[in-house]
Amino acid sequence: MDVTNTTVFITGANRGLGLAFAREARRRGAKKVYAGMRNTSGFDEPGIIPVRIDVTDKASIAAAAEIADDTTLLINNAGTAALIDGPLASDFEAQSKQLFDINYYGVARVTQAFEQVLSSKQHAAIINVLSDIVWLPRPYLTPYAASKAAAWSYTNQLRFHLQDRGIQVLGLHVGFVDTDLTNGIDVPKASPEDVVRQTYDALAAGKSEIMADQGTSLLKSTLAAEIPGYITPPPGLF
Ligand SMILES: NC(=O)c1ccc[n+]([C@@H]2O[C@H](COP(=O)([O-])OP(=O)(O)OC[C@H]3O[C@@H](n4cnc5c(N)ncnc54)[C@H](OP(=O)(O)O)[C@@H]3O)[C@@H](O)[C@H]2O)c1
Repeated sequence: MDVTNTTVFITGANRGLGLAFAREARRRGAKKVYAGMRNTSGFDEPGIIPVRIDVTDKASIAAAAEIADDTTLLINNAGTAALIDGPLASDFEAQSKQLFDINYYGVARVTQAFEQVLSSKQHAAIINVLSDIVWLPRPYLTPYAASKAAAWSYTNQLRFHLQDRGIQVLGLHVGFVDTDLTNGIDVPKASPEDVVRQTYDALAAGKSEIMADQGTSLLKSTLAAEIPGYITPPPGLF
């Protein structure tokens, strides 16, 4: 699906990757761009319509789906991360519950609420923002990794489930991106604009997955190896 002439709804679009998705959709000639966000006050971007949505709050999700009932492209972008001491940390369970609520159940809740909206259109698509972390051991991000791996699994089940209805489902995998989420982490980062351009190009090319940086492509290429990257990460990726 080409983003030109679509009506797009993006969760978590007040900043970071979500805002980049909104701006690039508009630049590419999308008919309408809805920017979903927890707090709409002060948001002022020409041609972009702010809509209140908290992906942990079913009532706000239902209200957003009613407002944006002309949506043909849903982008599940809202997400958060937390650093912990590793899989054995004392705050592991509390952090996991919070991250699953947003990164996994949030994706599922919004998708379920928009299902009717999308199914009633001739062409529709869903982009789920995932991560290289589904295949990469980074113990300090264990709850985040598990929540994204769950969202990846959901994405694969959803794609298969929706294929007869002609709804394209695209999973976006990427490593570090230069947004607030990675503030203070001193590593090479992809630019949000570049990630978004590649993602919309992949959507237009009819793809089901996009690896939006070299490291993630390399990581994925190891998955069939005897020692895949989730056991021994390729040099430079850990
Ligand atoms: N940055 C990276 O390195 C990277 C890499 C791979 C994947 N990702 C994924 O990319 C997506 C966007 O992240 P980002 O890098 O752009 O981070 P960001 O700048 O921190 O933005 C996160 C966005 O998600 C929103 N959000 C958080 N919890 C929410 C909730 N309960 N309901 C609705 N919105 C909520 C935030 O809203 P508020 O402003 O209200 O907090 C914000 O708009 C996330 O899914 C993240 O996991 C990021």
